[in-house]
Amino acid sequence: MRRLTTAHPAAARFDTSEGVNEPGVAERRAQRDPIKTQSTAVPNGTARICNAEWGPLGMMSGHGGFVHTFSARLSGLSRRDVLTGGAASLFGVLCGGSLAQASPGPRVVSIGGGITEIVYALGAQSLLVGVDTTSTFPAAAARLPSVGYARQLSAEGILALTPSLVLATAEAGPPAVLQQLRGSGIALQTLDADHRFEGLIARIQAVGKATGHADAAQALAAKTTRDWSQVQRDIAAASQRPRVLFLMGFDIARMMVAGQGTAAQAMLDYAGARNAAQGYGGYKPLTPEALIAARPDVLLTTRQALDAGGGAAGLLRQPGMAQTPAGQARRVVALDTMLLLGFGPRLPLAVQTLHRDLVASLSA
Ligand code: HEM
Repeated sequence: MRRLTTAHPAAARFDTSEGVNEPGVAERRAQRDPIKTQSTAVPNGTARICNAEWGPLGMMSGHGGFVHTFSARLSGLSRRDVLTGGAASLFGVLCGGSLAQASPGPRVVSIGGGITEIVYALGAQSLLVGVDTTSTFPAAAARLPSVGYARQLSAEGILALTPSLVLATAEAGPPAVLQQLRGSGIALQTLDADHRFEGLIARIQAVGKATGHADAAQALAAKTTRDWSQVQRDIAAASQRPRVLFLMGFDIARMMVAGQGTAAQAMLDYAGARNAAQGYGGYKPLTPEALIAARPDVLLTTRQALDAGGGAAGLLRQPGMAQTPAGQARRVVALDTMLLLGFGPRLPLAVQTLHRDLVASLSA
């Protein structure tokens, strides 16, 4: 029986530019000129806060506009009160976190979906004037002006948003662009992309400090640590350790396989699974021979890959699939790209979901 699990629906499609198979929220956003869309940025001092809801484990599960409607109805405050911060303390209580600042703060461009998620989780999103195309969660982030894909930035796109602070994952590039930004006098803070839980906590604290939300960062770090301990206990108690092959791509005939040192490898480790691809680092094109030799119990991919590429059935039709345990049992698990690989504050939720879906696929 086919087992297909999808979580966290999002509207992303894949982008095949440069022949690399990737989720293509990028495509939609690439059509938007950052300069033209600048006016859509949330200005500093507004109270557009907490526009995400809290799901399992208290993690955000994405939902724009909730607080605007809810809080204004609840309190009878005018929209103007809300936007000028008159309702700030009420929102702070509702959101359980720090407030969007009524006082001016840095104009922040956030590069890296995981970092953007931290900014939102801290309630600092009113500072954002732009994000990159991996910033797909919460949904409101994807509506901010885009500076393009984190690994293919252009200095002009960023400078046009006149930021005073650029927060970027260490995976951002190319290096020449980062150098240009430094040369322009903008504060550029690069944050480790180490794919470790400890690294996430360090990033939460660094973003808190850089945005003036250190207290909220302490609270978020403490909560994330509690959630993490619980998830790790659950996984340690599990008896099955499936061999999993992670496939990333848009064109199902040209998928890439995650080897060691990738975010995907780290997620498999945390979720109590084994990476069926061994002996190389980074991503490598999938071949039928390598697939058969890997003998995966389960195929893991992104929901966006399946949406764009013919679904699980299309994937399972590829050469070599029928000669693997995963192909024979039709075991395919798919999660949202940035939930799975983003290493943001949803990490405990992501690991828990991955573990649960992998185990469920074995018994389906
Ligand atoms: C212009 C389109 C894109 C291109 C050319 C591209 C290219 C790449 C390449 C070459 C890698 C592998 C880097 C390595 O070997 O370490 C990569 C990794 C990654 N990309 Fe993209 N990408 C694109 C768009 C996106 C988008 C829109 C997202 C998210 C919504 C995304 C999310 C990721 C993630 C999370 C990884 C890390 C995977 C891991 O380490 O396991 N990419 N991308």
